Amino acid sequence: MQCSWKAVILLALASIAIQYTAIRTLTSKPFQLCPLPSPQNCGLGGQETEPPFERGTAGSGGCDDYPYFSINATRKTHILVLATTRSGSSFVGQLLNQHQEVFYLFEPLYHVQTTLIPRLSHSRNAADRRVMLGASRDLLRSLYGCDLYFLESYIKPTPMNHTTDKLFRRGASRALCQQPVCDAFGPADVNVEEGDCVKKCASLNMTLATEACREKRHVAIKIVRVPEIGDLRALVEDPRLNIKVIQLVRDPRGILSSRIETFRDTYRLWRIWRATGRRPYNLDLSQLTVVCEDFLSSVSTGLSHPYWLKGKYMLVRYEDLARNPLLKTKEIYDYLGLPMDKNVEDWIHANTRGSNEPSAKHKFGTVRDSAANAESWRLKLSYDMVEYTQTVCQKVLYRLGYKAVKSVEELKNMSLSLVQDKTFVPFL
Ligand SMILES: *[C@@H]1O[C@H](CO)[C@@H](O)[C@H](O)[C@H]1NC(C)=O
Ligand SMILES: *[C@@H]1O[C@H](CO)[C@@H](O)[C@H](O)[C@H]1NC(C)=O
Ligand SMILES: *[C@@H]1O[C@H](CO)[C@@H](O)[C@H](O)[C@H]1NC(C)=O
Ligand SMILES: *[C@@H]1O[C@H](CO)[C@@H](O)[C@H](O)[C@H]1NC(C)=O
Repeated sequence: MQCSWKAVILLALASIAIQYTAIRTLTSKPFQLCPLPSPQNCGLGGQETEPPFERGTAGSGGCDDYPYFSINATRKTHILVLATTRSGSSFVGQLLNQHQEVFYLFEPLYHVQTTLIPRLSHSRNAADRRVMLGASRDLLRSLYGCDLYFLESYIKPTPMNHTTDKLFRRGASRALCQQPVCDAFGPADVNVEEGDCVKKCASLNMTLATEACREKRHVAIKIVRVPEIGDLRALVEDPRLNIKVIQLVRDPRGILSSRIETFRDTYRLWRIWRATGRRPYNLDLSQLTVVCEDFLSSVSTGLSHPYWLKGKYMLVRYEDLARNPLLKTKEIYDYLGLPMDKNVEDWIHANTRGSNEPSAKHKFGTVRDSAANAESWRLKLSYDMVEYTQTVCQKVLYRLGYKAVKSVEELKNMSLSLVQDKTFVPFL
């Protein structure tokens, strides 16, 4: 009995590993690591001399073909938004996406997960997790180098002639909805809606997308499928990259409430709990506990200031951003070392509470979640559920400065904020 159970797991793991190996072999780019920039191969001091790994001529293979970065890349910023679903990450993504010099991608790891672990989308198995993380880091490395072809191995159906209409949330990337990637909109169309982009732009030409990426000074990627910051250490320490992590957190009670509304099937039992006042016996508690465990371990790592995160870590509470979007966004750009441009500022004015526009004009899905709504979960969750969440997430609530409530009255009294003033300065 026990033996066959183990065999099934082993078989499943083996098949995942084989798939991943197959993808690695099929992909057009070599995987060996190319020489790292060092005083020897860059020339001392390095900055003015020949780049150590300029792109070689096409097809030459080996390290010459590896899409890393001229020495100028040291000045390129690789922004990584580490978030979880329903934590306000679309909003933060937009703050970067709107910047003229940023090439932004919305959760490319979606494709890794659907290809490698299609049926185990919430797998917490350690071996699955390692495969997924290894593949994710490889993909992120390539994408930061603007090698978008690498992503094609994970897109289903496999793109033909380097074109696809299946890139996940393509419309969320401004650069992929603009010329030269898409001719449907002119320079005057500043706020192209995601749905319009998908409808009006033809299939995505990955060659053009790659070129668009190369033309931007910086690359920003939002991910929600990496559990915690420690999983990214290899990437953060990679000297060819210049990673800046923005870890976005949100009150787990708010995340839970938002997920219940959004992922209706997956969170069906939670809705039943909310409607009946009785907790279903077969409720999958890990849907909540995993968020809190991951936050806690990330935040503990991040805030303990390990040397490998020096200058590369900023913790942002979604609620602070929602309360004071302009100020918080400036802090984020300061940390990134980039000037915040007018586009970003305009977008904030048009899409947050500070705006004078009637709300009907607010087009972005992110608005739903912003300012006024950051604490609206209090009116949606039952006291039972809140109390329960407070018990299992006690440590992380405390660590992040979210106040627990002790009565229904406190919960529903909106003039009483549950977000304590707490400053998380970037680790510089
Ligand atoms: C580096 O960037 C500067 C301006 O940003 C440019 O003039 C120069 O040609 C670049 N060097 C390389 C090797 O790409
Ligand atoms: C890919 O390109 C080739 C040659 O240009 C063409 O014959 C083929 O039909 C194209 N395939 C698709 C799916 O567009
Ligand atoms: C994609 O764009 C490149 C660069 O402009 C072009 O050479 C190629 O033909 C395009 N591919 C397709 C399938 O249109
Ligand atoms: C709500 O909280 C505020 C601030 O603590 C308090 O002054 C007020 O009396 C409370 N309202 C109710 C209805 O409990």
